[in-house]
Amino acid sequence: MTQRAPQTILLVFGTRPEAIKMFPVVHALRADGRFRVVTCVTAQHRGMLDQVLAIAGIVPDHDLDLMRPNQTLDGLTAALLTEIGKVLDAEKPDWVVVQGDTATAMAGALAAYYRKIAVAHVEAGLRSHNIYHPWPEEVNRKIIGTIAALHFAPTETAAAALRAENVDPARIHVTGNTVIDALHWVTDRIAAQPALASGLANLEARFAGKRLIGVTSHRRENFGGGLEAIAEAIRTLAQRPDVALIFPVHPNPNVRAVMDAALAGLPNVALIEPLDYPHFARLLAISDIMLTDSGGVQEEAPALGKPVLVMRETTERPEGVAAGTARLVGTDAARIVAEATTLLDNPAAHAAMARAHNPFGDGHSAARIADLLAG
Ligand code: UD1
Ligand code: UDP
Repeated sequence: MTQRAPQTILLVFGTRPEAIKMFPVVHALRADGRFRVVTCVTAQHRGMLDQVLAIAGIVPDHDLDLMRPNQTLDGLTAALLTEIGKVLDAEKPDWVVVQGDTATAMAGALAAYYRKIAVAHVEAGLRSHNIYHPWPEEVNRKIIGTIAALHFAPTETAAAALRAENVDPARIHVTGNTVIDALHWVTDRIAAQPALASGLANLEARFAGKRLIGVTSHRRENFGGGLEAIAEAIRTLAQRPDVALIFPVHPNPNVRAVMDAALAGLPNVALIEPLDYPHFARLLAISDIMLTDSGGVQEEAPALGKPVLVMRETTERPEGVAAGTARLVGTDAARIVAEATTLLDNPAAHAAMARAHNPFGDGHSAARIADLLAG
């Protein structure tokens, strides 16, 4: 019997959430003789990408090093398109795999399309049906959905959204979200080597006896008034002596400036640098509540049974809301404070949301994706 030549799979990613959701796919493909695996990182996020590469043990084959301080969407996209194109010309892959809805993912898909290279989309079919919430991700993922030959939908809801856009059902596969693979992997690593996540010990001691709220916020559509309202809500919640908030601040200068101005020096607020993935998993584990506008955190928190208040007007991840473990609270300061206060003061309300469930995946998504790519 003749052996099929391995297919060349080129994975393009560049931000923290893409790296977290792609590393299980890289691991699965690399362990499989059916593939020649090439990784191309754009480094749209330099520091936060490198944190993930280090823990996942990935040394990229191509590193485009494209992050610029306070980069604009058009400048970033133009650079991504040109530089990813050069890598595609050199590597001539059979497949380009992109994840999610970032500028890197959109430009990676477009550069592949310009060369008629097949695109596979991990985390396909998420839709808020509002092109300005989240912005610009809703349009990025629609562009990728138009181009992709294989759509790896995390959930049945996402698959249905693609079918509603007349995507060929034979090209849509419900694989689960690889973020759950990543979370299981990092949880196992921490169990084997607790020192990987021990760096919060000082904060845990400083806030001993208090209820912990973990916070993240970075969305472009929240810049300005939205972020200021989020900061005001945190200031108000931090006045409670029984509460402390731990907030790893996204390095985007538009986020930093607002949060530093409003929150620096408050005794019950720890504004800290972005945590590496094991330490963020630890923050999830020790928090009573998560307050976030992040996509990934909305998926991880339900898996760990953590109530999550989503500081956004819309979500493309309705599964947590439908199950009652996530609640959309928008960016009105009074509403955020009221919802968090209910969870802090009403044990029944907290218990009703603190129910571990896995609507986003079972931890075996990457293996399914590898099999589907093998064809
Ligand atoms: C990007 C994605 C967004 C994703 C988010 C996850 C786009 C358009 N946006 O948004 O979909 O949800 O990442 O975090 O693709 N910076 C650093 N160090 C880092 C990372 C960022 O200093 O490690 C700063 C830089 O000044 C950079 C800025 O943050 O210019 C913005 O980064 P960018 O990737 O353009 O946008 P995000 O808001 O991070
Ligand atoms: N995360 C992390 N360290 C942090 C904050 C978040 O490792 O300090 C992880 C988190 O567990 C999730 C992902 O980063 O998997 C979410 O990334 P982000 O919020 O930047 O982007 P989004 O998911 O909104 O696109």
